[in-house]
This record gives sequence, structure tokens and C-alpha cells, in this order.
Amino acid sequence: MTIHEYFPTRVYTAALQKAGAREFNRRLLQECRQLRADDAAGRRWSARNYPGGYTSYGSAHRLQRISPTFEALQRKLQSHVKAFSAAVQWDLKDREMSMTDCWINIMPRQTAHSLHLHPLSTLSGTYYVQVPNGVPGIKFEDPRLDRFMAAPPRTVNARPSNRTWITLPAVAGHLVLFESWLRHEVAPSLINEERISVSFNYNWF
Ligand code: NI
Repeated sequence: MTIHEYFPTRVYTAALQKAGAREFNRRLLQECRQLRADDAAGRRWSARNYPGGYTSYGSAHRLQRISPTFEALQRKLQSHVKAFSAAVQWDLKDREMSMTDCWINIMPRQTAHSLHLHPLSTLSGTYYVQVPNGVPGIKFEDPRLDRFMAAPPRTVNARPSNRTWITLPAVAGHLVLFESWLRHEVAPSLINEERISVSFNYNWF
């Protein structure tokens, strides 16, 4: 007998670059903090939509177009986006995946990012700039969850591929990529230091 496994959900993780992550993250970190200091509109937006934290999502969400450092991040991400596109065998019809949005997330203690997906995008992801020990990772939800109806719960030790939720640790200098329809969240941090990441969306049309 054969048990077939169809319709997989891909989540891609990798180190952004082979060397130089520390220096690159130092530059990014400086710009993240500078932007938070300069971006009054973003701080107001965050106060309403991201309690306790700062995100430039509502104010400066195309950082790859205004900052050479974020433009460099975009360049470094290209090979990873290509690898993901190849893994899912997308036929992009002579088009290229292009970065549409790129924004900062600064999460102090107790700030959370509730369950969401990224509408109007194809591929989304996050690059980790500063990850203090003990901060939460990114938690993904099985995209079929709303169809499970009478499905029993999974055993405590179920294989990762059979679980309903998976949490991947955040690692400084690493990135995660996933299709934009995959719902995800970040639990509240219980750590006093800030967890700092850069998120981005790609589209192919
Ligand atoms: Ni997200």
C-alpha cells in the first residue's frame, strides 16, 4: 500500500548570506532605530495597530526604494526568492517576482503580532535583524484548518508535517519565505530586549 502526500505547504528558511551578516545587521539595526525616531506618522499608526511596538507598515512600507541598505537587502534576497519559486515550480510567464513592500517591525516585551495573512501578495517573508535569546519565533497555521470539521486532534508527538501549527525560531541573519496566503503570527515576547525584523512582500504581476 502507498500513502501519498499531496498539496504540501512550503516554508523556506536560510541564512541571508555566507558571511558579513553581523556588519550588515548593524547597519540595518541603526536604520531601523533611526526610522522609528524620525517617523511620527508610523509611531501614531503603530500605537493604534501594533500596541507597544513600532512598525513602518502603515507609513514607510517601501524602504527598498528609499534606503540603499534596504535596497541591498532586496538584492541579497533575490537568489532566495528564485530558489523558492523553483521549489514550488511557479510558471511566472516571463515575469519576475518583484518586491512591492518592505517594512520594519520592532517588538519590545509584550508586543504581539496576531494571526494574519498578506492579501494582494504572492510571496512574503521576514529577515531577522536582532533576536534576543528567548523571543518567540513565527508560528504558522495549517491552511486547511477551516475545513477539518470532524478531524481528530493530532497526537502530542505527531510528525511536524502532520501538525496543525508549527513554530519556527527567529534567527538573526536568517530569513523565512512563504506563500502570502499562509496565516502566521508572533506570540507576545516576554523578553526585555527588542526583537527586530524586516518583512517584505513580492508580487509577480
Ligand atoms: Ni506577516
